[in-house]
Amino acid sequence: MCGIVGYIGHQQAQEILVNGLKKLEYRGYDSAGVAIDVGDCIVVTKSVGRLKNLESKVSENKLIGCRGVGHTRWATHGRPSDENSHPHFDCTGKIAVVHNGIIENYAELRAELKALGHEFKSETDTEVIAHLMEELFNGDILETFRLALSRLEGSYATAVISEYEKDKIIVARKDSPLVIGLGINENFIASDIPAILEYTRNAYILDDHEIAVLTADHVQIYDESGIPIVKEVFEVKWDAVAAEKGGYDHFMLKEIDEQPKALRDTLRGRIDESQRKVRLDEVKLTAKELQDIQKIHIVACGTAYHAGLVGKYAIEKLVRIPVEVEVASEFRYRDPIINDKTLVLVISQSGETADTLAALRLGKSSGARVAAITNVVGSSVAREANDVIYTWAGPEIAVASTKAYTTQLLAIYLLAVFMAEKRNTISVQDRVEILQALQMIPEQAAQLVAAKDRAKEVAKGVVDWNSAFFIGRGMDYTVALEGALKLKEISYIHAEAYAAGELKHGTIALIEDGIPVISLLTQPDVYEKTMSNVIEVKARDAKIIAVVNEGDMKAADVADEMITIPKTHPLLTPILSVIPLQLLAYYASILRGNDVDKPRNLAKSVTVE
Ligand code: F6R
Repeated sequence: MCGIVGYIGHQQAQEILVNGLKKLEYRGYDSAGVAIDVGDCIVVTKSVGRLKNLESKVSENKLIGCRGVGHTRWATHGRPSDENSHPHFDCTGKIAVVHNGIIENYAELRAELKALGHEFKSETDTEVIAHLMEELFNGDILETFRLALSRLEGSYATAVISEYEKDKIIVARKDSPLVIGLGINENFIASDIPAILEYTRNAYILDDHEIAVLTADHVQIYDESGIPIVKEVFEVKWDAVAAEKGGYDHFMLKEIDEQPKALRDTLRGRIDESQRKVRLDEVKLTAKELQDIQKIHIVACGTAYHAGLVGKYAIEKLVRIPVEVEVASEFRYRDPIINDKTLVLVISQSGETADTLAALRLGKSSGARVAAITNVVGSSVAREANDVIYTWAGPEIAVASTKAYTTQLLAIYLLAVFMAEKRNTISVQDRVEILQALQMIPEQAAQLVAAKDRAKEVAKGVVDWNSAFFIGRGMDYTVALEGALKLKEISYIHAEAYAAGELKHGTIALIEDGIPVISLLTQPDVYEKTMSNVIEVKARDAKIIAVVNEGDMKAADVADEMITIPKTHPLLTPILSVIPLQLLAYYASILRGNDVDKPRNLAKSVTVE
């Protein structure tokens, strides 16, 4: 996720672009830049780090020009650096491009363009767009742009200014957002509405495959084959605060809703077309090195630790290597047995959690191979691990982690299938079954976020809750842990997760009339066992909220409330079953009048021990 802006009109562009970028900083903040047409050329100013670095650069060197584009970056291809910051030029410096998204075939295009003599200045996927346009330029910038887009695979919201047609900005979108703000003798572009709200409330919301040409006094939209289309003007009714959250009241709900896209982005390009193989080019472990691994330690904190617990089930089942999962603050101080036959897998959304980083360093200094799953390119974890699998969830702002967790699970499944294939521990049929099921997950997640009223309904009674239990067996137990953490951290209701079979060894003494027991029943192999535990607590008058697979008729006899999830492969249910629990926690927090996005005593990134 990055943010792009653009301006063409009668005012000075630089200030408008930087103002717009400030409103988009939530979309990425590892570097920023602007390209301004100063009359006889286009000048690019860019800087790694927070936007204030760019601001101080441009305030020292004010550029005069009424046309420009800008970008705030959340690194995907290439670490955060001045060179990798956008905008990017072609070789001649006549075409400047900003881009949000991922060009999947950038490596092939880059090789092709290099062979034709193009010199690249950055490691980004974006730079290929500028060079491709230079290569394809035929005197008509719009036609050239269309030709270039037809060569791109992946996702983009992209904007281009060129020396060739100095009265235009051209833009296009596919799977990344883009809005066009309509002014009087001026027009704007932005990844999101807050960036244009200071100037206009009238906008076109671009749809996938649409291309637009902006001049100061006109906007023309085209379909992908170049046919002009007429679009309805969208009138923005939100106030500025609501607009920053895309019309949502809270970042947490926005991020819950972003999960289908985050999952789609994390999956993109990682399953080959035959649906038989996982492509994880970033994991450099060879088949021989994988054969030699005798033990895996997964180390993480909080929600990421819960993702690691799912990893244990998936990896042990598919790869048949013993896996230990441990919270990083324990692992680092207990002298774990690690050697060159060990793989340490750390999981961290931020990539900066102090204990996780210390665990990574301990793994490395003990001779282990260290792999990481993280969401932040260029983070400490990403820089120090031997192999890095990125989740493409985009920045997570709400303290309570949601989309980071589900994308971490996806990355874990991909890694498990990848390792299983390399170690020959999975049949082709099982692999195809899992990979096909994985590809359906984004759509199934979309069904669950669309059904949020069900979670809202269930949360209604929450004001009376003093305590809640989450139970399940196997993978359901790991999701119970995550569900309980979500409820605790934002609703402040005491919540405990138990392996369902363990209740009768003590905790069942706490079950009394009306106490909510959120019961996860998605695992076919332990369904009957868990159900008998549910019946035990029901007999003690607990209120049963059951999370079940669709089509489960049996749970209805015991449950006071039912939440169903779409059918998937049993190994994959955690990605889906957690979504209603995230929503339940969210609505519980609202009903209790809490600050959902910034719960008390918590910080988003824990960089101290
Ligand atoms: C809970 C939550 C935390 C984090 C934990 C690790 O909702 O977000 O438990 O998961 O602090 O953070 P990262 O993943 O950044 O290492």
